[in-house]
Amino acid sequence: NSILDKDIHHLSGGELQRIAIAAVALRDADVYIFDEPSSYLDIYQRLKMASLIRDLAKESKYIIVAEHDLAVLDYLSDYVCIFYGKPGVYGIISKPHGVRVGINLYINGYLPDENMQFRSYSISFDLSPIPNEWRPEDLLLRWPSFTKEIGDFKLSALPGEIHKGEIIGIVGPNGIGKTTFVKIISGELQPTQGYIENFGISISYKPQYIFPEANKKVKDYFDSSIIEDPWFKEEIIKPLEIELLLDRKVDTLSGGELQKVFVAICLSKDAKIFLLDEPTAHLDVENRLTVARCIKRIVEKKNVAAFVVEHDIVTIDLMANSIMVFSGEPGRNGIANPPTSLRKGMNKFLKELGITFRRDPQTKRPRVNKKGSWLDRYQKEIGEYYYTEITAEDLKA
Ligand SMILES: Nc1ncnc2c1ncn2[C@@H]1O[C@H](COP(=O)(O)OP(=O)(O)O)[C@@H](O)[C@H]1O
Ligand SMILES: [Mg+2]
Repeated sequence: NSILDKDIHHLSGGELQRIAIAAVALRDADVYIFDEPSSYLDIYQRLKMASLIRDLAKESKYIIVAEHDLAVLDYLSDYVCIFYGKPGVYGIISKPHGVRVGINLYINGYLPDENMQFRSYSISFDLSPIPNEWRPEDLLLRWPSFTKEIGDFKLSALPGEIHKGEIIGIVGPNGIGKTTFVKIISGELQPTQGYIENFGISISYKPQYIFPEANKKVKDYFDSSIIEDPWFKEEIIKPLEIELLLDRKVDTLSGGELQKVFVAICLSKDAKIFLLDEPTAHLDVENRLTVARCIKRIVEKKNVAAFVVEHDIVTIDLMANSIMVFSGEPGRNGIANPPTSLRKGMNKFLKELGITFRRDPQTKRPRVNKKGSWLDRYQKEIGEYYYTEITAEDLKA
C-alpha cells in the first residue's frame, strides 16, 4: 500500500520487484512465468512471494519459475528441471523431476537417469553440533549495547560477542539496519551512543554495494603472494572461477562476477574477522553454495570468524552456526538482537512468519513444510519451527 502512490521511476529494486510480481499474479492467465522473483527481496518478502505463487497454483494454473533461492524454489514447485552445462557456452535441461528428488539430485551434482555428473562433489549440510558455550579464550570481539542515528532512522544494538570458528548469519527485513551494524563493527561508522573497543583485531569487510574503480585490474586488488598460495588457489580462486577474471578490468565485470571477485578479495586478507554484507546477491545458485563453502573453509582453516548478512536460508544453513535476527520497523527503528544458535534464532524468526522447516532425510537440507500439512501443524504445536528430529520418513513408517 505504501508504494501505490509513488512514481514508478523512484522505486527501489525490491519495491519494483514486488509490484511486478503483483501485476503478473493479478492477470487472468492460464500460464504464469516468473523469472527470478526473489531478486532484491528480503527474507520475509521472499517467503510471502513464494506463498502467493503457491496460492496461484491452487487455481489449476500452470506456473514456470526460474529461481536461485533453493528454499523458495522447493516451496514453490511441484517439479523442477535442472539446467547445467558451461555458462556462456552451452546449456542442457534435465527432464522434470519431483521437487524433492530434483533438488537432491542438484545438491548431489549427479543425474543418474542421464548418467551425467555436472559437479565433482556433493554439497553437504553439516549437522555437527556447535558448542553451547564458547571458551573464554575463543572470544574475538565483544560489543556493548550501542545506538546509531541516521536521519529518521535509529539502530539499537544489544550486546553480543563473536568467537573463533563462529559464523554469524545476519537476517532481517530491508531497511532494518543490518548494513549500518556491519559498518559500525568494521569501524567505518561510529555509534551515536556507545563505543566498541577493538583490541587490535583486524577486520576484512565486503560492503553490500561495490563501486569498482576505473582502470584497475582484478589482480591489482590481491596480494601477489596470496594468488600463488596453493591452498587459496584450490579452495577459493578455482571454485569461484576467478582465474579467468584476474586480468580483466573491474569496471567491465558483470554484477555476479564483481560479487565473486570482491568476496574473494575480502577472504584473501589476513584478518581475524570477516564481514560480508550480502555476498550472494546477483549470484546463481551454484555460486551461492560455493561462496558459503569458501567462507566456511576460511573460518575453519584460519580459526577466525565471520558475520554474513544473507537473505537465502539454505545458504545461511550451510555455513552459519549462529544467527542475529534484526527486528523493529524498517526505515524507522531497528534492533540488533544478540547472536543465538541457528536453531533458536531461526525458530523465533520463523514463528513470526508462521512457516516451519524440516530437514530432508537424505541430503539434510532445510525444506519448507507445506502449509497446513501434518508436520507443519505438529511443529507449530510443539514450537519447533526449524527442523525437528522427526523426518518425513518417520511419518511414513
Ligand atoms: N547515509 C544515510 N543517509 C540517510 N539514511 C540512511 C543512510 N544510511 C542508511 N540510511 C537508512 O537507515 C536505514 C537502515 O539502512 P541499512 O542499514 O542499509 O538497512 P539494511 O542493510 O538492513 O537494509 C534505512 O532506512 C536507510 O534508508
Ligand atoms: Mg543492507
